[in-house]
Amino acid sequence: MLTKEQNERLCRVGPGTPMGALFRRFWLPVCTADKLIEPGGAPRAERLLGQDLVVFRGKDGQVGVLDEFCIHRGASLALGRVEECGLRCLYHGWSFGVDGSVLDIMNIPADKRSPKLRARAYPVVEEGGLIWTYLGPKESQPAFRRYAYMDLPDANRVVLMWKTNANWVQMLEGGLDSSHVSILHTNAARPGWGGASDKKVGAMDDTGPSLEIEDTQFGYHYAAFRGRANGAGGNVRITPFIMPSGRIIPGGALLGYNSTLLIEVPIDDEHTATYSVRYADRPMSRADRLRETGLDDPGIYSQETQEFLFSRMEFNKQRRDLMETNWSGFRGISTEDAVIAVSMGPLYDRSRENLISSDLAIVRMRRRLLDSIDRMERGLEPVGFNVDSRSIEAVDASPPDGAHWRTLVPSHRIEEPA
Ligand code: FES
Ligand SMILES: [Fe+2]
Repeated sequence: MLTKEQNERLCRVGPGTPMGALFRRFWLPVCTADKLIEPGGAPRAERLLGQDLVVFRGKDGQVGVLDEFCIHRGASLALGRVEECGLRCLYHGWSFGVDGSVLDIMNIPADKRSPKLRARAYPVVEEGGLIWTYLGPKESQPAFRRYAYMDLPDANRVVLMWKTNANWVQMLEGGLDSSHVSILHTNAARPGWGGASDKKVGAMDDTGPSLEIEDTQFGYHYAAFRGRANGAGGNVRITPFIMPSGRIIPGGALLGYNSTLLIEVPIDDEHTATYSVRYADRPMSRADRLRETGLDDPGIYSQETQEFLFSRMEFNKQRRDLMETNWSGFRGISTEDAVIAVSMGPLYDRSRENLISSDLAIVRMRRRLLDSIDRMERGLEPVGFNVDSRSIEAVDASPPDGAHWRTLVPSHRIEEPA
């Protein structure tokens, strides 16, 4: 349980908030690259950490991220004309380069322009199917953080994003909660649950995994053991939590032996963009991934706007008529996760919850984040700042005989207790 004050500190990310300051120390995705392919194509209005931005690709191919509202008198630059190497406001024709410099002003003679005028521009990296930006102070800008999947051929990954009407912590907590996998995702994890078949997916029929957890330099990693009681060693799934809001989900029998990097990016306090990269050492099918997530259903997800189309007013989208054989009444893992997060309301008050031992990883995530805010207020760096993410991995395996589970992820640097 958190006090109301702690919950506010944890969840709110707008400019001037402590958690907002923490997120502004990391590179974050601002949109998927497939929505910004064409040089000179339509600019995109994107909101990130409660800030309104415009993202565009000039005719020269360069990508810019600027504050959305024109510095002259506030028209949205998302309506603007994209030019060779900049973006021109429709209203009075001010034109801005990707670095924010004012290239032209149409409603005043050149000799009357103030050289001091400049739009607020943010650094951009296009990598791994995503457009990334950094909203924090220039002097603290870390090197761009690469992930292992970025070294694979493009065909070996499927990048998806879905926008959900719920606070980012609700989405992240679902992602770090091993015990819900065998329950909420019963349709995928325990297909024989209703006695309809004897199909088994690894050790997923164990709905009460035991958890062990260790702090690492990038955040923490935890191990969920299943099926140990049945002898024969059982199964362990190791999931890393990557500051401030990332994780890698191991594949295993449940997800077809590949990994999924997921990053929960706050659009604002009540909306989240979930970036998901499924990757493997072989080419992957986007159609398969859409089916598994349930996002191939146009009634539940718009591939055009990337919005998850379910609200608290639409509980009738649940197929209760199918629930004899369909546990959740929904189809697809990501759909089930998003539905739960939305069902909690836009920003859940954690002073009302009752935590138990299966919530260990949730509690640790909150502590790592809240401790990082405290550290920043003492002038220190947040946990995970400037850490190389390339060697972070997730594992689904048999527990090693006689050795600690961390030997399965030898590249993870354990943080020594202070
Ligand atoms: S408001 Fe953009 S040029 Fe005037
Ligand atoms: Fe889930």
